Amino acid sequence: MKEKIENIKLDLDKDLENIKTTQDIVDIKAKYIGKNGCITELTKNMKDLSPEERKEAGMLSNEIKNYATDKINNKEEEINNAILNEKLNKEAIDITLPATEIPTGAPNILEKVIEEVEDLFMSMGYDVYDGPEVEEDKYNFELLNIPKGHPARDAQDTFYIEGNEILLRSQTSAVQARVMLEHEGKEPIRMICPGRTYRRDEDDATHSHNFTQIEGLLVDKKDISLSDLKGTFDALAKKLFGEDCVTRFRPSYYQFTEPSVETDVSCFACKGKGCPLCKNTGWLTISGAGMVHPNVLKMCGYDPNVWKGFAFGFGAERCAMLKYGINDIRTFYNADLREVGIFDRKEDK
Ligand code: DAH
Repeated sequence: MKEKIENIKLDLDKDLENIKTTQDIVDIKAKYIGKNGCITELTKNMKDLSPEERKEAGMLSNEIKNYATDKINNKEEEINNAILNEKLNKEAIDITLPATEIPTGAPNILEKVIEEVEDLFMSMGYDVYDGPEVEEDKYNFELLNIPKGHPARDAQDTFYIEGNEILLRSQTSAVQARVMLEHEGKEPIRMICPGRTYRRDEDDATHSHNFTQIEGLLVDKKDISLSDLKGTFDALAKKLFGEDCVTRFRPSYYQFTEPSVETDVSCFACKGKGCPLCKNTGWLTISGAGMVHPNVLKMCGYDPNVWKGFAFGFGAERCAMLKYGINDIRTFYNADLREVGIFDRKEDK
């Protein structure tokens, strides 16, 4: 037995010298002190010994077991420390390396255009309103002089939520009626309202069943005329498209304005000479507008003999597309960062 133990010791010392990895530790533990290890083996035959011999064999095998366990544990610690040190050395941070660039966000281009418009109108004394997207037929159509059965409803067919009275608003013009009723025919109004609208439309590069409009309404007792609207639209166009652009009105028709106009801005890309952006016309159509129809004023609680007003409404995406040279409206609703990055906010840099 003694001889066996001596041999085990010699083997163990030799094995320990060659150990390098944590797997080697696992193996050496199994070989010596594991369930079937050679030291454990020693105690297995003890039942055949005499009590005297058993006592001595027990002492000796305990001794060698403790010896082996200590040695193996020490070696394990040594190896773990070596692995840790190597890792620390390898992973040391080189502070002279350039920092990793963290991509930062930028304001949404559509929000930017809306904010620009809000800033301009607030500077002219307008309030910014918010209206519900789920709207009543009354506000979206009836109070805007578009009674049930009116053919103008076809072009603004929308999503009906409950029966035919609750719908997703097809135009932010609905907020005109809300704001006028809120002021009970007593106070002048200057408001704009940016917001989402919904309507049946072919979804293509320039149309979407869901888009953003910016509505404007001014009501006052003073002699408000089309030239006030013209001046206001001129300020808007210059703010969005540059100081040197000019504007024009073309006759149009809306049920809630009389007279109604279509407002154009001279093409900022070709300065009115004609180019692909303006389809060679030299002009870009921006909004619908007009003098608030007397029926609308009356239905919304304003006496048309005393009050007058103008209104306008335009698509925010269309303005952003023209301004930033975006040729597909779907880009605004697409979460693909590669596409969003295309209109890389040059002036934000
Ligand atoms: N609501 C109209 C549309 O969606 C746009 C519009 C035209 C708004 C004339 C107005 C307006 O306020 O006066 O096509």
